[in-house]
Amino acid sequence: MASSSLICETGPWKDLRAHVEDIKKTHLRELLSDTERCKSMMVEFDGVFLDYSRQCVNLDTLNKLHNLAEASHLKEKINLMFNGERINSTENRSVLHIALRAPLDSIINNDGKNVVPDVWQVLNKIRDFSESVRSGAWIGATGKVLKDVIAIGIGGSFLGPLFVHTALQTDPEAIEFAQGRQLRFLANVDPIDVARNIAGLNPETTLVVVVSKTFTTAETMLNARTLREWITASLGPQAVAKHMVAVSTNLTLVEKFGIDPNNAFAFWDWVGGRYSVCSAVGVLPLSLQYGFSVVEKFLKGASSIDQHFYSAPFARNLPVLLGLLSVWNVSFLGFPARAILPYSQALEKFAPHIQQVSMESNGKGVSIDGVPLPYETGEIDFGEPGTNGQHSFYQLIHQGRVIPCDFIGVVKSQQPVYLKGEMVSNHDELMSNFFAQPDALAYGKTAEQLLKENVPRPLIPHKTFSGNRPSLSLLLPSLNAYNIGQLLAIYEHRIAVEGFVWGINSFDQWGVELGKSLATQVRKQLHVSRKKGKPVEAFNFSTTTMLTRYLQESAD
Ligand code: F6P
Repeated sequence: MASSSLICETGPWKDLRAHVEDIKKTHLRELLSDTERCKSMMVEFDGVFLDYSRQCVNLDTLNKLHNLAEASHLKEKINLMFNGERINSTENRSVLHIALRAPLDSIINNDGKNVVPDVWQVLNKIRDFSESVRSGAWIGATGKVLKDVIAIGIGGSFLGPLFVHTALQTDPEAIEFAQGRQLRFLANVDPIDVARNIAGLNPETTLVVVVSKTFTTAETMLNARTLREWITASLGPQAVAKHMVAVSTNLTLVEKFGIDPNNAFAFWDWVGGRYSVCSAVGVLPLSLQYGFSVVEKFLKGASSIDQHFYSAPFARNLPVLLGLLSVWNVSFLGFPARAILPYSQALEKFAPHIQQVSMESNGKGVSIDGVPLPYETGEIDFGEPGTNGQHSFYQLIHQGRVIPCDFIGVVKSQQPVYLKGEMVSNHDELMSNFFAQPDALAYGKTAEQLLKENVPRPLIPHKTFSGNRPSLSLLLPSLNAYNIGQLLAIYEHRIAVEGFVWGINSFDQWGVELGKSLATQVRKQLHVSRKKGKPVEAFNFSTTTMLTRYLQESAD
């Protein structure tokens, strides 16, 4: 396809480029003094409140961004996604994670077939299975109740479920349903992760859930064989039937591994790994831990955002606004990173999850038609909960590089604490920081202000804050299963919006393949060197030297 199809060749893109200089002339201090502007940059949907007035944008910028959305055919692309078109063209797949949380009476077609009944068939199977394990109707090989679960999986088969589990762990309703059960995640092929996961657990009371879309991922399969060994060594080979279940799209390989297909929970190739937390990938382990009714609320929260994303006008559409602002920050203002800063310890695994969703989706170098891109896509996502991050990397954010920040706050704490004699509750203390940081970034502190405070002159350059650093604030009413689902879907769709505007395929991940195939060659080399004493060969000088050293030193 001709390069004229690239979004950067369109009028709206060029218009925005030209507009950058105007915006650079205006400090956020000035932009924030315009109350009408600020009012227009606050949007609420279903209890989620977004304030993006601290973005380096004026109303003109927003108009231009909406023109860009039109030029990129954003609305049409969203429709194609919801209509089950094969928008993941390099893998010839549709992208229908929205169907995973759709109400039973919805119709979402893939290849002319409504997939919602299939989704609910698996959900019902999960409901039944998790209830029987939790109630003790399903028991282990020695007759004991299975109270602990280890979910084995990596990447999208790990990070989303871990995020949701971590977020629910302190939710009062979820705690009640957890009933002293444990859920652990084994992801890394590092044997240390195995040791940590099985520490203190008894195979007799443990259920292992092997989660892998392909059922071929090297790390997951080795970990699955390792835990199969852990179970069968003490309980015998027949124990697999009671102690191991699987989640996969590849039921043939599940059976080959030795897991009864009746104990397998399916999903489909139209669910991308990093978008799979609402499939059995997340729903099974989370239902085992918290019960299906809690997880169903999580699905409902995500579904509410799906409807909003599909139908709300762009000017009030949370994922669309967030996506367009990200494109502005990356492609026009040139800010390569984005900090995800939840002011809630329960969201400590949110940034790592979004890191995969965003960076695996949008870290691309060519357009969807294979044309090399003359502009950058994707952002470097990282983050930590506030206030921990404040005592770590915020120095750089305040006085070093400009990094647009997402501040995520919660009105009602999952675990409020009120201490006698304190000015405010512990949650208010946390939230004081949530409200203060965006203003510190936006306004900064001038040399004049410091002089008035009698700061010694030599310290003035060190204590000056330039300000004009963009952020946005998302305020959730509380952090229960429903709100967690909302938050997930907002970010999933925001990332899709960015990819749609950049004109890339956000749903493939070819960039992870090369490292995997090189690891296969190394694995073969390690095998022949150890077994047959063959010298390291066919690698470059650097790798040969390191491998030889590793083999020699680990043989001692
Ligand atoms: O690292 C690449 C990747 O394919 C991810 O996209 C995916 O989430 C992960 O590996 C795990 O894959 P699977 O679920 O097939 O084991």
